[in-house]
Amino acid sequence: MSTHTFQIVRHGSQEYRETVALRDSVLRRPLGLHFTPEQLAAESGDIHLACYDGDALVACLILTPVDARTVKMRQVAVAQERQAQGVGRALVERSEHVAREHGFAEVVLNARLNVVPFYERLGYECVGGVFEEVTIPHRAMRKTLA
Ligand SMILES: CC(C)(COP(=O)(O)OP(=O)(O)OC[C@H]1O[C@@H](n2cnc3c(N)ncnc32)[C@H](O)[C@@H]1OP(=O)(O)O)[C@@H](O)C(=O)NCCC(=O)NCCS
Repeated sequence: MSTHTFQIVRHGSQEYRETVALRDSVLRRPLGLHFTPEQLAAESGDIHLACYDGDALVACLILTPVDARTVKMRQVAVAQERQAQGVGRALVERSEHVAREHGFAEVVLNARLNVVPFYERLGYECVGGVFEEVTIPHRAMRKTLA
């Protein structure tokens, strides 16, 4: 992981468009879904965190403020060929640092059911039962930031 760097990218920038392409390929197209212009416009106030290996984008996520205390982690995506190599862990840990820097004390998220163990390893706990989102089962999770 030593060669990886992290960057907050500006909504609408070329770097942002690259994160949208990565999210589309990892999170949406496999479900037969795609982002609408309205969905992308609605995330203009969010924090977009990107992870690079050299110049290559390898992972990204979004932090959406919920209120003064809480931020929602969304759209966590690691490029398929880079998965299971510690990139997701490093990205989530960096995002928690970013969230703290922005004054947030808690992270919430909706995890795909098969990914719940990934977040549990990172200290997140389930709250409530299973529900459906983007056609697949999810569970709500949360973590208080140290
Ligand atoms: C889920 C995802 C973000 C995880 O990132 P990753 O880089 O592959 O995961 P890491 O290599 O950092 O794994 C960190 C730890 O979680 C574990 N882990 C990762 N994915 C897991 C899974 N689906 N089930 C159980 N454990 C998992 C790893 O074994 C590792 O454990 P360790 O610390 O004991 O070695 C990534 O695989 C991905 O983008 N998947 C497709 C999109 C997706 O499902 N996004 C999440 C939507 S909620």
